[in-house]
Amino acid sequence: MAFTFICHTSAVSEGAMGLFQAGRKSVLLVWPAGGELKAFRGRCPHADMPLNEAAFDGKTVLCNYHQWGFDGANGKCVTHLVRNALHPYELRVEGDEIQVDLGPARAPRATA
Ligand code: FES
Repeated sequence: MAFTFICHTSAVSEGAMGLFQAGRKSVLLVWPAGGELKAFRGRCPHADMPLNEAAFDGKTVLCNYHQWGFDGANGKCVTHLVRNALHPYELRVEGDEIQVDLGPARAPRATA
């Protein structure tokens, strides 16, 4: 596991969400009201669109493209009978830093 700094804890608050960039990947931090801070890939699992214009009411992340909603606590779709879900990332808080495991880095392409 390789955790990457995403932002400081002061950048997020309960009942809100924020989209952050970590290198070439976008990370959606979601903190449901009364729940725990979660991290997801910042793209919608319906048509792989960015979630930078998505809305959050403290419980559901609503994608603006086709209005699919996702539970902020577990990423599951709550508006359609589909298995599509937000892709979760492992998250940890170290001091005042929020860090996320973005998965294995791709190996560089071999040059001929
Ligand atoms: S791309 Fe998000 S609902 Fe279609």
